[in-house]
Amino acid sequence: KKVLVLNGPNLRRLGTREPEIYGADTFDDLVRLCRETGLELGLDVEVRQTNDEAELVGWVHRAADERTPVVLNPAAFTHYSYALHDALAQRTAPLIEVHISNPAAREEFRHTSVVASVATGTIAGFGLRSYVLALRALSELE
Ligand code: DQA
Repeated sequence: KKVLVLNGPNLRRLGTREPEIYGADTFDDLVRLCRETGLELGLDVEVRQTNDEAELVGWVHRAADERTPVVLNPAAFTHYSYALHDALAQRTAPLIEVHISNPAAREEFRHTSVVASVATGTIAGFGLRSYVLALRALSELE
């Protein structure tokens, strides 16, 4: 069973980007962790990252057409992208919103998610383990 793990802007810079918040593990480490978790759960996991809102919206449309479940870290788009919200509203399979940090415990602008209302659920604050928990949640939904 195919699952997409989609990542928004700046997440390719994991490991060097504000490590006190996002940790020392790199994006490649995240890809490996997600793929290994997929192997354990019997899921075919593909991990992608983009800094481009249009590209992310396109991936979400394709996932909707193909009924593919998605784990999504929308990064900063979480807080303001109504285009992403509207794309996700068309989903045809489960969608888990994930965050590495806990946005509710950070700056005020991070307390709003325009994605949460169109997600199956949200997992935030567990570092890269948030992705592992999201993949487990997806596998239990199937
Ligand atoms: C993030 C939290 C967002 O507020 C931030 O813009 C990110 C990463 C997280 O995974 O903790 O880029 O989504």
